[in-house]
Amino acid sequence: GNTANTSMLHYWKYFAMGVGYTILISLVGVIFGFITGTLLALLRLSNSKILRMISTAYVEFVRGTPLMVQLMFVYFGLGLFVNLPALTAGMIAVSLNSGAYIAEVIRGGINSVDGGQLEAAESLGLNKKDRMRYVIMPQALKNIWPALGNEFISLIKESSIVSIIGVTDLIYQLKIVQSDTYRGVAPIVVAMILYFIMTYSLSRLLKFYERKFN
Ligand code: ARG
Repeated sequence: GNTANTSMLHYWKYFAMGVGYTILISLVGVIFGFITGTLLALLRLSNSKILRMISTAYVEFVRGTPLMVQLMFVYFGLGLFVNLPALTAGMIAVSLNSGAYIAEVIRGGINSVDGGQLEAAESLGLNKKDRMRYVIMPQALKNIWPALGNEFISLIKESSIVSIIGVTDLIYQLKIVQSDTYRGVAPIVVAMILYFIMTYSLSRLLKFYERKFN
């Protein structure tokens, strides 16, 4: 008879690999998103009108189009010119997307720094760059820490879209296990629980560090 093992436990390696890729893409996304977002936020605050316009346009456009389309654009568009593995395309798309969201978080963080701090820094004779670097940014970073954590949690969930181009994340593995076992629902339940374990532990971890900071 059919000896296929349809136990979900039997497929733990598939799920583990999926979790690994999901975390990897989300982590890369939030790190490069932070770099992109910082750059965009600084452009937004610059004295040059054209730079401010470019930054605003980028943020509006990326937030106003689905991550799914951006992902396809990077994978098939860039793929015309360079040999681009799906994983790389996924990381690029998620990072570029996250950068737009994080830019707004950082802008909010910079604006949240008390005006008196800026005046004090000015009266100390710090130039604009040093004021930004030593007075505004450290405080802004402290204020936006929870929002950055939330972005990381969002990416754990939103990065699931990379499965459509064949990145072997958790959703991709769930589909493999479905077709291997002919079981429709069980793999979904497993993936759902695994997503929740990731986001919930992350949110607990963030709360822990938040308390430690304050
Ligand atoms: N689901 C939304 C979209 O498709 C948001 C994706 C990214 N969200 C984020 N926080 N980076 O556009």
